[in-house]
Amino acid sequence: MLKEPIDQKQGAMGRPVLRLLRDYAWRYRSSYITGAVFLWITNYLAVSIPGQIGHAIDALRAEQPLGRYVAAIAVMGVAVIVVRSLSRVLIFNPGRHLEYNLRRDLFAHLMRLQPSFYATQKRGDIVSRASNDITWVRTLVGFGGLQVVNVTLAVALTGWKMVSLSPRLTLMVLLPIVLCTGLVQWGIRRLFYLARRSQEQLGEISEHVLGSLQGMAAIQGFVAEEAFVERFEERNLDWFRTGMRLALIRSIALPLLVLSGGIAMFALIAIGGPMVLGGALTVGELAAFTALLTVFLPPLRSMGWMMSVIQRGRAALERIFELIDAPIERPEGAVGVVLESGQGPGIELCDLHFAYPDEVDREVLTGLNATIPAGGVVGLFGRTGSGKSTLLRLLVRLYNPPAGTILVDGVDLVALDLETWRRRMAVVPQRPFLFSDAIAANVGLEETPDEAQIQSAVEMAALGSDLESLPDGLETVVGERGIMLSGGQRQRVALARGLYRGGDLLILDDVLSAVDHQTEAQLVETVADLARRPEAPTVLISSHRLSALRRCDTVLVLDGGRLVDSGPHAELIQRSGIYRDTWLVQSQRAAAEEEVAS
Ligand SMILES: Nc1ncnc2c1ncn2[C@@H]1O[C@H](COP(=O)(O)OP(=O)(O)OP(=O)(O)O)[C@@H](O)[C@H]1O
Ligand SMILES: [Mg+2]
Repeated sequence: MLKEPIDQKQGAMGRPVLRLLRDYAWRYRSSYITGAVFLWITNYLAVSIPGQIGHAIDALRAEQPLGRYVAAIAVMGVAVIVVRSLSRVLIFNPGRHLEYNLRRDLFAHLMRLQPSFYATQKRGDIVSRASNDITWVRTLVGFGGLQVVNVTLAVALTGWKMVSLSPRLTLMVLLPIVLCTGLVQWGIRRLFYLARRSQEQLGEISEHVLGSLQGMAAIQGFVAEEAFVERFEERNLDWFRTGMRLALIRSIALPLLVLSGGIAMFALIAIGGPMVLGGALTVGELAAFTALLTVFLPPLRSMGWMMSVIQRGRAALERIFELIDAPIERPEGAVGVVLESGQGPGIELCDLHFAYPDEVDREVLTGLNATIPAGGVVGLFGRTGSGKSTLLRLLVRLYNPPAGTILVDGVDLVALDLETWRRRMAVVPQRPFLFSDAIAANVGLEETPDEAQIQSAVEMAALGSDLESLPDGLETVVGERGIMLSGGQRQRVALARGLYRGGDLLILDDVLSAVDHQTEAQLVETVADLARRPEAPTVLISSHRLSALRRCDTVLVLDGGRLVDSGPHAELIQRSGIYRDTWLVQSQRAAAEEEVAS
C-alpha cells in the first residue's frame, strides 16, 4: 500500500502538519487569530478570577466590604463563558472548510491518476483515506488546534500569575508536572506509530468490505460466506488489537499527568502552608495560588487526549498527502503537443515492444511494425491473450508505450497532450463499466447531454428494440455496474456511449462478442458506414469473431504478442495460418447453426 511513495517522499513528507498549515489553514488565519485572541481573553479572565477570590478572602478577614469583588467575579465568569463559545466557533468553522478543500483536492487528484497507479493500490484503502483519515484531520485542526492554543495559553498565563505571587512556590509546584510530561514522551511516539497502523488496518477492512460487496454473487454462488466472514474476522481482530494498544498507552500516559497534578497540589500545601505561617505569604495569596492550580489542572488532564488527537491527525495527514503526492505518470509534463483534430489520424507502430509495469520481464507485445491508415477501418485479430487489448490500451495511453514506438500523424504518441488526445477518441473497452444510473446518463457522460443525440446513438448501437422491453426505456436505472442488463445489452450501452461521444478515433475492444449474429451484422454495417463519412474517423476493432472483421480495410493478426500477418479478410482466408484456420472452424459452425435453424 503506497509503500514506494512513502520511501521516496520521506523528506517532503516529514512535516505534514506544517504543510497543512501553509497550504490549507493559512487562508483562514484571520479567523484563527481572532479565535486565539478570544481564547487568550477567556484564559486571562479565568486566571484573574482567583486573584479576586484572594482579595475577597483577605477583605473578609479584615472585615471590609466584599461587594465589589463579588461583582467582578460574576461579570468575569459570564464573560469567560461567552468569549469561550465565540472562540470555539471561530476555530472550528475553518476546520470544516479545510476538510472540504482537502477532500476536493484529493478527489481531483484521484481523477488524474492513471491505471498504472490503480493497478497497485487497494481501493478500500483509498476510500478509507478519503473518509476516515480526512475526519481525523478535521478533528486535528478543530479540537486539536483549539486545545493546543488553549493549553499553551492556560499554562503560560497561570504560570505567569503564579510566578508573580511566589517564584519559589511556583518552581516547587510545577517541577513534578514538568518531569511527568517528559516521561510521557515515549508514549506520544508510540501513539503515532499505532495510530498509523490502526488507520492502515481500517483501510484493509474497507477493502475487504468493498471487495465482498462487489463479489457478493460469486461468494454466495460458491457458498463461500463462512470463509469471507473468517477473513474479515482476522482483519477486524488486527484492528481491534491495535485499538486496545492505543488505549493502553493512553491509559498509562494520562494517569501519569493526572498524578503529577496531585503531587503538585500536595507540594503546594506542604510548602505553601509553612510559608503562610512564617508570614511570607498571606492566606489570600495561598488561596489564589490554589485556585490558579485548579485552573491549570484541567488542561493538563486534557493533554493526554490532545496528544492522541494530534498523533492520529498527523498519521492521517501523512496518509492523505501520500495520495495527493502520488505522481501522475505523464512523461510529457504539463503541456504536450496538440495535433489538429477533425480528421481520423494515421497511426504507425515502429518496432513496438511492451511489458506491463508490474511484470517487466514478460513482453506482451514484441516488435510490432504496422500502419493504420488515416480514416481506415482496421481489425485486430488474435487468440485470447495475444495482446489485442494491450495494444488498444497503449493507443488510449492508459499505459505509456516506449518513446518513439507509436507515431500519430508522425508525432510520438507519448509527446501528445494527454487530455486533447483522449478528447479526440471514443473508446469502448472490453469490460465496459456502467454506472448505477439511467441508461441515458450512462450513454452521455457529460454534464448536460443532448437527448436527440443519445437517441440516435442508441439506435445506431442496435439497442432500440431492447429499450422497448425495458420498464422506463432510456430512463431505466441499470443497477450497480449494469447488473440489470444482459451481457449483450451492457456491451451495446457501452457502444452507444462510444458512438455518442464520436471523435477522430473509434476504438472497439471486442464489443460484439456477446450479441447474436444478426445484431452483429447490423453493427458491422453501422461501423462501415462511419468510414464512408467525409470526416471519416479511424476505426480499430478487435474481435475473435471473424464475421465482425469482414468489412475491415485490413486486419492485423496477432499471435503471442507478435504480428504474424495482415491484410484484408478476403486475402487472409486464402493464406494458411491462424486466421484461415479460425475462419474454417467459424464458418463451418455458422453453416451448421443455419442448418439447425432451417
Ligand atoms: N494489467 C495487466 N497487467 C499485467 N499483465 C496483463 C495485464 N493485462 C493483460 N495482461 C497480460 O497481457 C497479455 C495480453 O493480454 P490482452 O488483454 O492484451 O489479450 P487479448 O488479446 O486482449 O485477449 P482477449 O482476446 O482474451 O481479450 C496476457 O498474457 C495478460 O495476462
Ligand atoms: Mg482483450
